[in-house]
Amino acid sequence: MNNSYIAVFDSGVGGLNILESLIKSYPNENFIYLADEDFFPYGIKTTNQLENRLTKITKKLIEFDIKAIVIACNTASANSMHLNKITNIPIIEIITATANYALEMSKLKKIGVWATNATIKSNRYQTIINENGICYPVPASDLVELIENNQMDTALCRKIVQKHLEEINDADSLIMGCTHFPLLKDIVFEYNPNLVQISSNKPVEYAVKKLLDTGLEHEANDKQIIDLYTTKINGELNIKVKRFDIIPNSINYLEIK
Ligand code: DGL
Repeated sequence: MNNSYIAVFDSGVGGLNILESLIKSYPNENFIYLADEDFFPYGIKTTNQLENRLTKITKKLIEFDIKAIVIACNTASANSMHLNKITNIPIIEIITATANYALEMSKLKKIGVWATNATIKSNRYQTIINENGICYPVPASDLVELIENNQMDTALCRKIVQKHLEEINDADSLIMGCTHFPLLKDIVFEYNPNLVQISSNKPVEYAVKKLLDTGLEHEANDKQIIDLYTTKINGELNIKVKRFDIIPNSINYLEIK
């Protein structure tokens, strides 16, 4: 038993999508969610900038009563190797599990990856997938801001989606390798209903289950607590969260400089 919180973070709305599925799958668990809106977008930052920012975030999160950190962001996961030196609290990164899950799901083992420019640059997806299949990587940071600002069903967004679909050649599966991208699910389906879309939600759920099974579950709880934080003064997390089936107990500003 461990009644501490599970911390989840991303640069913005993408991780809310992961949080939503964790809340449903683990109703006894309490969650802290951090949206790093002040540093958004992650995907066009340098490795150095990302590593420094993640160090600061991790140091801040461990000030809370937490038992695990879920990096609900591919870009952050790709740049998270140094974080285990900062804390012994288990950290779940999402790329390894998502890439392996895609290899299981894809019949042809031809897998497209849409991810931010920084994630593609890290080569993490390519390295894992190319061991047992063929990876078609597509840098797609051009979609992130549109999704963050809820502009998915626009001519511009649709045009970019079509272009990026052409870039995955004959792949039978597409990894939504940025946690923002599952929000494009319906539009991608419209253009290619046969494509198997793979998000990180399931692999993350399994990873969290594995961790809780080591004796870290919360005792049965009266009411699940979900506290949200944003790093941006006057951030828009209170509006953005309405796009998800999440009812937070509180939404607060958290200073990370
Ligand atoms: N949602 C994030 C990811 O999975 C990053 C988006 C961004 O801030 O560029 O990579």
